[in-house]
Amino acid sequence: MTNPLLSEENFEKTRPIRLWAAELKRRFGRPPAYFIRTFGCQQNDHDSEIAAGLLEDQGFQAVASPDNADLILFNTCSVRENADDRFFGHVGSLKPVKKKEGPIIGVLGCMMEQAVHRDRIYSSFSHVDFILGAGAMELLPQALSQVLFEYGSKEPLDLTDQEKDAFGPGLPVRRSQHHRALLTIMTGCNNYCSYCIVPYTRGREESRSYDLIMEEARSVLDQGAVELMLLGQNVNSYGNDIRKRGEKSPDFAKLLADISQLPGLGLVRYMTSHPKDLSDDLIQAIGCYPQIEPHIHLPLQSGSDNILARMNRRYTAAHYLNLIEKLRASRPGMTITTDLIVGYPGESQADFEDTLRVMEAARFDAAFTFIYSPRVGTPAARIYDPSESPLIQKRFEELVKLQNEMSLDSNRQLLGRTVKVLIDGPSRKDPAILSGRTLDDRLVNVTCPDRTSSHDLSGGSDQCQAGLFLSVRIDEAGSFSLKGTALDL
Ligand code: SAH
Ligand code: SF4
Ligand code: F3S
Repeated sequence: MTNPLLSEENFEKTRPIRLWAAELKRRFGRPPAYFIRTFGCQQNDHDSEIAAGLLEDQGFQAVASPDNADLILFNTCSVRENADDRFFGHVGSLKPVKKKEGPIIGVLGCMMEQAVHRDRIYSSFSHVDFILGAGAMELLPQALSQVLFEYGSKEPLDLTDQEKDAFGPGLPVRRSQHHRALLTIMTGCNNYCSYCIVPYTRGREESRSYDLIMEEARSVLDQGAVELMLLGQNVNSYGNDIRKRGEKSPDFAKLLADISQLPGLGLVRYMTSHPKDLSDDLIQAIGCYPQIEPHIHLPLQSGSDNILARMNRRYTAAHYLNLIEKLRASRPGMTITTDLIVGYPGESQADFEDTLRVMEAARFDAAFTFIYSPRVGTPAARIYDPSESPLIQKRFEELVKLQNEMSLDSNRQLLGRTVKVLIDGPSRKDPAILSGRTLDDRLVNVTCPDRTSSHDLSGGSDQCQAGLFLSVRIDEAGSFSLKGTALDL
């Protein structure tokens, strides 16, 4: 793969960043420091990994707090209101710092694709130096260079209207985890669910070529990754856009099956699947290849056919339940997790009860539950009625209670059993405990009998623990996590 930043033209473009890096190093005796705060989904996490790769290529070093950074980046998400609010809170708190010759501040990501948020930056947060759109990391060096030339200008530099290449060919990636590699297989979304902002921020679906995906997969496995996480807003429609152009492309079932057979791979995960596009071939592949996780994240959103139709989801509750029956027949014991939205505009008590009924029939192992949040520019936001909020809050609590009981039941099935856990590293709360996930994606806190002192497991040794598959006996089960004892450490 060629790195476009190494071309002569781009080398010239990034000269000011290198000069800045050299100047800071001379002044302070250290390389320039950067800090990235990422909101939103794993696609944003991966974009931040690319930003980190680009910066480190220019000699920057990551720091753990914005207080010590020369460059602060916010990678934003606009999927729900609380993500917006959190971002504006953070960026607002930097105003006083910025007045005294503070750090360079850049805002990237999905919120910057919307005029309403960009306008708010111009009017109330003009201490921001530059803004970039979603998935536009290849423009970061250019943005930094321009800001350095024009530093101190009142208006933020806005590069959101520049053309971008969905996959930033060959851009360097600084992966935040060594053992688990995020791998984008497609970007954008064509589905236009009526509540959702993503198609407006990420654009149309674009699949990455099969060969490039396989090449990156092989390369990260060679570098020691054991788990791959394939990313797309709707992975089940992988390749459709390529085939529509008249070119050949395998579908998602074939891509997933081929990746699962790569040497060195322990486990392949993928998200997200849309129920309307979940094919029988994919269900069969999930049953055939043990390296494919015994888990699927399959957002239901609502159990009411009326609401599903109004959400433009294009499936019925019966179709959904039929899919999960087929999945469980294909891969017995697999876990099924989902996303649910409560309070879609016009949701009646009967609609809500339909959702509870489908949840009980589906017996989800876990669910992400959301209260409907109106997003400017989406069709549903035009019919939103805030006066229903107290009622919706009550429904939400009832739904969460039901799901927590079902999650607990599901986790209790594992009590006393020994399962494989892929270790992520020491737990954040207690470094003497290891944190990991079962193959079917349950969070487990693992005690290691002979190595219980924090000395053994912290102090840098987390790197060697991360990526190990341990046999763990499950001793305790909660709604959100399990506790267990490692049998083979
Ligand atoms: N592409 C994925 C996920 C998209 S966003 C999919 O189709 O499933 C993740 C989840 O956020 C969605 O599944 C949905 O449950 C929730 N969500 C999206 N927009 C929302 C909104 N306006 N209000 C509340 N929840 C929302
Ligand atoms: Fe949003 Fe629907 Fe696309 Fe998912 S499938 S990203 S919910 S529009
Ligand atoms: Fe948020 Fe954009 Fe992802 S809106 S959920 S960061 S695609």
